[in-house]
Amino acid sequence: LFPWAQDRLPTAIMPLRYELTLHPNLTSMTFTGSVTISLQALQATWNIILHSKCHNISRATFMSAASSQEKQVEVLEYPFHEQIAIVAPETLLEGQNYTLKIEYSANISSSYSGFYGISYTDESKEKKYFAATQFEPLAARSAFPCFDEPAFKATFIIRIIREEQYTALSNMPKTSSVPVEDGLVQDEFSESVKMSTYLVAFIVGEMKNLSQDVNGTLVSIYTVPQKIGQVHHALETTVKLLEFYQNYFEIQYPLKKLDLVAIPDFEAGAMENWGLLNFREEALLYDNVTSSVVDRKLVTKVIAHELAHQWFGNLVTMQWWNDLWLNEGFATFMEYFSLEKIFEELYSYEDFLAALLKTMKKDSLNSSHPISLSSVQSSEQIEEMFNSLSYFKGASLLLMLKTYLGEDVFQRAVVLYLRKHSYGSTQSDDLWDSFNEVTNKTLDVKKMMKTWTLQKGFPLVTVHRNRKELVVQQERFFLNMKPGVQPSGESYLWHIPLTFVTEGRNYSSYQSVLLETQSDIINLTEEVQWIKVNTNMTGYYIVHYGDDDWEALIKQLKINPYVLSDKDRANLINNIFQLAGLGKVPLQRAFDLIDYLRNENCTAPITEALFQTDLIHNLLENLGYTDLASRLVTRVFKLLQSQIQQQMWTDEGTPSSRELRSVLLEFACTYNVGNCNATAVKLFDDWMASNGTLSLPTEVMATVFKVGAKTEKGWLFLLSKYMSLGSEAEKNKILEALASSEDVWKLYWLMKTSLSGDNIRTQKLSFIITKVGQRFPGHLLAWDFVKENWNKLVQKFRLGSYTMHSIVAGSTHLFSTKAHLSEVQAFFENQSEATSQLRYVQEALEVIQLNIQWMEKNLKTLTWWL
Ligand code: BES
Ligand code: ZN
Repeated sequence: LFPWAQDRLPTAIMPLRYELTLHPNLTSMTFTGSVTISLQALQATWNIILHSKCHNISRATFMSAASSQEKQVEVLEYPFHEQIAIVAPETLLEGQNYTLKIEYSANISSSYSGFYGISYTDESKEKKYFAATQFEPLAARSAFPCFDEPAFKATFIIRIIREEQYTALSNMPKTSSVPVEDGLVQDEFSESVKMSTYLVAFIVGEMKNLSQDVNGTLVSIYTVPQKIGQVHHALETTVKLLEFYQNYFEIQYPLKKLDLVAIPDFEAGAMENWGLLNFREEALLYDNVTSSVVDRKLVTKVIAHELAHQWFGNLVTMQWWNDLWLNEGFATFMEYFSLEKIFEELYSYEDFLAALLKTMKKDSLNSSHPISLSSVQSSEQIEEMFNSLSYFKGASLLLMLKTYLGEDVFQRAVVLYLRKHSYGSTQSDDLWDSFNEVTNKTLDVKKMMKTWTLQKGFPLVTVHRNRKELVVQQERFFLNMKPGVQPSGESYLWHIPLTFVTEGRNYSSYQSVLLETQSDIINLTEEVQWIKVNTNMTGYYIVHYGDDDWEALIKQLKINPYVLSDKDRANLINNIFQLAGLGKVPLQRAFDLIDYLRNENCTAPITEALFQTDLIHNLLENLGYTDLASRLVTRVFKLLQSQIQQQMWTDEGTPSSRELRSVLLEFACTYNVGNCNATAVKLFDDWMASNGTLSLPTEVMATVFKVGAKTEKGWLFLLSKYMSLGSEAEKNKILEALASSEDVWKLYWLMKTSLSGDNIRTQKLSFIITKVGQRFPGHLLAWDFVKENWNKLVQKFRLGSYTMHSIVAGSTHLFSTKAHLSEVQAFFENQSEATSQLRYVQEALEVIQLNIQWMEKNLKTLTWWL
């Protein structure tokens, strides 16, 4: 009988140090391993319970420090909890140290987690093998027996036995490389700092690198040899960011080396393993000829994010996955904060804003959850914490706090927190305690922030102005207003740092007031024409105004939009469309507001407006209202006509203006307005005639490919290029074009091919499904594909993963009929209990319900207005 029944490990035994030796065989996809764990008993006990998944254990021995005599011991297994138990030959005594040694063999995984293997063909068409790890959150246990919970920190000594042609990398610098039998080599890496198991990593493959020393830390970018020409941007960026973080946190990066590796097949964007950051190729490599501004920003952001984790996550770790936001929210916050400081010209806040607004929409559903959850247990629940709430709500709350406290106080609290908890684990309260220590009782940060981290959703602040008096009220912004769905008896209250700008005041003197009650009155110093609450959208809430105040804002936007910041303009567009969805303002008023876009030159407001109108367009199109849909396009085109016509088909200009060009020309070509297609066709034909050697402007490349993909010949030519090119940036643009086809057979073929992993890597599947699911007629096909291949998808990506989340969302979010709702519901109800309980399944159903309601509410207005 297995002596332990819980999924969390007992706390009687604490691991201190692991010595791990692994010998992988990349062609047979198997490995043998041996792990020696030094343990300390914190309480007297008979058993040692730890994690182990799919290992064939051949031998286990036990030794107490006192007797120093090895004894063979029995191992009990409990696969359901991925645990093993060692029955010790003697009672383990409190305070004593012991050694456990386990020898085992296992398969190298063919999924994307654990110690997994991949193959690729190099430039001379030779088949190559590569193996890497992805342990977060729960897969270290499939590579070696260990105490696989983040709070069990220990040190690690890792040895890898490999064939000569390979390079092996791990968290720490290599200390020795010695030949062993059969022409093999054993690399040993130095003992690590104290860290969590999910951060352990190793890689075996043929690689090249480029390195630079930064004050005693050797920074290297690794890639497969043929792509070594694309690593310069990453190296430069990493060096700058490393210096920035060391300064900001006032703590040196503690390791002697920092490797960033482009992995040929990787599920996530990147992973922050201490000293060994793993990336998808597209998230690390930059190609001068084919990477666009968006591609460059991706690389910069992902590096900034993973580097921030070296402090937030690695040095100080959340105790348990329920507080994952401490890792991911902070890394996301630092990612945008550092870019703002050292790559200001990238305007990364535009991306932050867009991601945040999408996150808020999810947070206004019933299926949302507090970012700091009380109970997270099953592996699905743990994996489901990796969602946009942990990342962007978390980051936004920190931004709100920083804005309220000021940069100085904020930084001091962060530094204090990191210093105090270095090499330890924390809960949300530890963070707030550090803030309170710094604010020194002038403000109870913990009390304030708990209203944001322990409640799901966010407030809708309604403002009514009466001359100099501002009446403000808060309630939960709740999208799903269907009777019976509204949670009754739940009363939500937040401590909201309200900020506002008014006419005639400049942005540096905007005001801020803390709203702690359900309603309050704010006195303005003077009467003003207009007021905009939530300045620069640094607060996590939506604002609704009285009729007159909306009118005043709309009027001001039409007279001169630039008295408001681009963030505020984007924020107003978002808020009014969200409120229209709720029925709080008529949809016409939202359209009236965006009428000012004729005079808009900034990227953020235009992309937000296009996002909102695209959504409506796609819903209309998918419901068969093609005429209404195209009339909507005509309306939007009229608003942006002059900006579209000003665009040149080049890569000139600032990063932000280049991105705007890309967005506008993409819009024009997708909907075939404003003669853009003719230019695109010409560029495509020239490119094809040159056999793809002509270099296209990167900002319009995807658009040109999409137009080219409309003909059979063009599509097939693009496909042949996809198979042979060496730049992921270019391949992604081609793939997007291939997936924009209207030919269902082609779309089906793309999804099927990507699932098989031949020719199109499986890492691209969720991207393909999402693209196919975006438009008519692909969206029906995408959902059919997901249903048909459900079990295979789950096997490849794991049920609770972010990838499955985006596959389900991407293939269902445009359904808007009752028939589709019941269809999707029925499908999930017929799967396992764990499946129908997934949060993202609830979310998908709620989104469809909302689409139905939205159409019921607004179709009439749309018909009338268009
Ligand atoms: N720690 C995550 C990687 C991860 C994601 C592990 C999901 C387990 C499950 C990493 O720091 C991360 O957040 N990666 C992002 C990229 C980042 C720039 C937002 C990703 O992979 O999308
Ligand atoms: Zn992260």
